[in-house]
Amino acid sequence: MPTYRDIIRAATERLRASHSDSPRLDAEVLLCHVLGIDRTELYRRLPLPLDIPLDRFWELVERRARGEPVAYLTGHREFYGLDFLVTPATLIPRPETEYLVTWAAERLRLRRDRPRCVDVGTGCGAIVVALAVTLRTETSALLVGSDRSLAALRVARINRDRLAPGDVHLVCGDLLSWCRGPLDLVVANLPYLRWEQWHPGIAFEPPEALFAPDDGFGLYARLLPQAATLLRPGGACILEIDPDQAERAMKTARIAFPTAHIAIEPDLAGLARYLTIELPAKDRAS
Ligand SMILES: C[S@@+](CC[C@H](N)C(=O)[O-])C[C@H]1O[C@@H](n2cnc3c(N)ncnc32)[C@H](O)[C@@H]1O
Repeated sequence: MPTYRDIIRAATERLRASHSDSPRLDAEVLLCHVLGIDRTELYRRLPLPLDIPLDRFWELVERRARGEPVAYLTGHREFYGLDFLVTPATLIPRPETEYLVTWAAERLRLRRDRPRCVDVGTGCGAIVVALAVTLRTETSALLVGSDRSLAALRVARINRDRLAPGDVHLVCGDLLSWCRGPLDLVVANLPYLRWEQWHPGIAFEPPEALFAPDDGFGLYARLLPQAATLLRPGGACILEIDPDQAERAMKTARIAFPTAHIAIEPDLAGLARYLTIELPAKDRAS
């Protein structure tokens, strides 16, 4: 009778011969998912015999071996310490995006009125729902997540209802074209890849969540002037960008926000990942 350890070893070997760059972890996460246990419980059981049918587990291992992300196989991804549901209709949230939540939360905490914040291209709702959970008792901010994809918004609604019921509004629309403003904060992790940046690691994610026209900067080139007409004096904006776009992002932001403090901030790998814009309090939205 094989033990849990034997099964994990066999699955790890299968995944090692495939796309996975974390075969042991993937095997553990998939077995835990199928058995409905956490990894602490898995480690406790490692020496014990595993005597139930594992057809579902081996099916998931094969799909993982063909490149499907673990998050789509389990339907879950941790982001900002929260458990988000994800489907192939949504991007799988990345760790570098967590900084947008921290930055936005710091600015919203400074406001005593009822600040209005939009997360443009919310996908599974990761940024705006994490913001709502983080700020829950600290501000009366009006938080909105918007996306052009109805399928993504359906997932965002489930995450909102599970994690921050009632605290987040969801809107379907192109960028900020649906918004009347005024706004205090715009947060966005919009598609910013060029088609040449395609690689097998992103093959299962929706192309409309990854790629943007005009060398990957086309959506931000449209968003920045929209944000400039909607942001209030003292408002702010943070965008996650491709490091190759930093110079263009700065130039476009300077044209849209001539009096703002504009900066590029690095991610944990030291790459120019975030464009931040802070408007002086005296400016008037046009
Ligand atoms: C890179 S994903 C980010 C999802 C989520 N914010 C995150 O960080 O995990 C970009 C999202 O923008 C949405 N999107 C693409 N073009 C858009 C547009 N013109 N207007 C609104 N949303 C758009 C996509 O549907 C996708 O959900």
